[in-house]
Amino acid sequence: MMRTHRGGELKTSDVGTTVVMCGWVGNRRDHGGVIFVDLRDSSGIIQVVIDPSDEGLDVGRRLRNEWVLRVTGSVRERPAGTTNDDMATGQIEVGAVAVEVLSESEPIPFPLDDRVEVDENLRLRHRYLDLRRDAMQSNLRLRARVNSAVRLAMEAQGFCEIETPMLIASTPEGARDFVVPSRLKPGNFYALPQSPQLFKQLLMVGGFDRYFQIARCLRDEDLRADRQFEFMQLDLEMSFADQQDVIEATSKAVVAAAKAARPDAAVGEVGRITWHEAMDRFGSDKPDIRFGMELTELTAIFSATEFRAFADVEAVKGICVPGEADATRSKVDALVDRAKQLGAAGLVWMRVRDTENGVDLESPVAKFLTETERKAVVVALGAVPGDLVLIASGERHKTCQILGQIRLDLGRPPVTEGLAFVWVVDFPLFEGLTDDGKPIPAHHPFTMPHAEDIDRLESDPLSVRSQAYDLVLNGWELGSGSVRIYRPDIQQRIFSMLGIEAEEAHSKFGFLLDAFAYGAPPHAGFAFGLDRLVAILAGEENIREVIAFPKTQSGTDPLTNAPTAVDDKQLGELGLRLLPKKA
Ligand code: AMO
Repeated sequence: MMRTHRGGELKTSDVGTTVVMCGWVGNRRDHGGVIFVDLRDSSGIIQVVIDPSDEGLDVGRRLRNEWVLRVTGSVRERPAGTTNDDMATGQIEVGAVAVEVLSESEPIPFPLDDRVEVDENLRLRHRYLDLRRDAMQSNLRLRARVNSAVRLAMEAQGFCEIETPMLIASTPEGARDFVVPSRLKPGNFYALPQSPQLFKQLLMVGGFDRYFQIARCLRDEDLRADRQFEFMQLDLEMSFADQQDVIEATSKAVVAAAKAARPDAAVGEVGRITWHEAMDRFGSDKPDIRFGMELTELTAIFSATEFRAFADVEAVKGICVPGEADATRSKVDALVDRAKQLGAAGLVWMRVRDTENGVDLESPVAKFLTETERKAVVVALGAVPGDLVLIASGERHKTCQILGQIRLDLGRPPVTEGLAFVWVVDFPLFEGLTDDGKPIPAHHPFTMPHAEDIDRLESDPLSVRSQAYDLVLNGWELGSGSVRIYRPDIQQRIFSMLGIEAEEAHSKFGFLLDAFAYGAPPHAGFAFGLDRLVAILAGEENIREVIAFPKTQSGTDPLTNAPTAVDDKQLGELGLRLLPKKA
């Protein structure tokens, strides 16, 4: 047996016990003859005291940071005045009787102290060292707890875990595929799965009525704080189930995850909002409901206005920024510029003041509004003296989006603060029309239209709601799902509308359509991003901090140097030849 104890777990009640521990030298201090080593293992740190004048302990003089030791010693109380209340094991230490060096270390390229900011490229190049830091240790352990809680929650609800393949034909998630050349069929390629979408639907036809998988997905898209090429989903699908069933099952899994990660956090019921209301109140289909400053409808107030910017527009919407009435002119000008950059014709700002005339609005444009209009704005927004009012107008959807973004710019807490889950339901089936008038699906083309709207599919496609739903956490899209089309007639109508010819549909998804011809059960499903969930639960703004070996923003891995070139022989076997590099 290599060790009897893990140092970080030792307690005052262990005083007097002889222990054998293994770990790294986290810190070494030479106090005039006696050497203090913070021995670090996965459980934490314990102070080891080595007297190199004792027999066999002169090795203590040679020790350096990050050497790996096996220490035998006895646990004792620290002498009075030397205890450390900030440390879990700060009341005790181990007096070494034997020290074995298991492995030596070169001086490390950056300190492992969490308080020191280190260049991320350097961290990733030596990720194995970076992983020794407390923050990475606790993030990955939290991740493991989340995985475990999610798996248990799914199993407890009767879901069966099934793996789906990585080398597949393309899936229709809308991002670019990573492709893998086939050696046995030169000139042909597998796609790596953007999600298990089509396979989980086949599993429904195959009679597994509750499937889940902690699934690796790959998408070749631009990387951001909440995006990696490779990421993990909790993926699920249910037969003989509707939207409500999926929402309930998924809510149980995310709430279990949140409780496992943050036992002290209050995680209430997961709320629900329609897409329409989310756009209207928050100007976003992933509303951050952790703070107010909601968008207020002002259109009716200006129905007969003389003010050109608010006359004859589809919508006038406002937000009230508390306590910002004295914002400098350059600050408000910057807000106007921001709105224009987002596509607005302009942004009206007004300072809320206490005047002889009661609470009123003060601004260069205030004089173009009637007193009734100004007062009605104050009432509608619930504004009080000292607030700043911002108003945008124009096409409804765009106006909401622009003001929603400004709301986020001005009020959004860090993504890691608090936990506000919300379901967004009743998405539109199509998000717009292409230049040649074809509807653009908001989700994948197997999403079932809302039962009440199916009759309007062809006549008024943009008004058709879908049975698609998203889960949002602190303003991040955590996941999405839908009730699927399982009836060939409806699927055919959608394909025709999207301009997907029968032949194309058959070549892309023929296997799924074929399967549906053999008794397909009604089914619905969902997938949420585990990296995103774990990042927020761990208090991290970037999912790279909760992934053991992530790619950099530019898609490379400084540790293995991937992606790398392959030699001509390997290319030849795959039937490939590279084009000369463009100058
Ligand atoms: P969707 O494409 O919305 O749905 O993906 C679901 C969730 O996966 C996460 N996600 C990502 N996380 C990190 N990096 C990425 N590049 C990335 N892309 C997506 C997000 C997202 O909300 N098959 C459907 C689900 C279904 O209909 O059942 C799907 O994959 O958190």
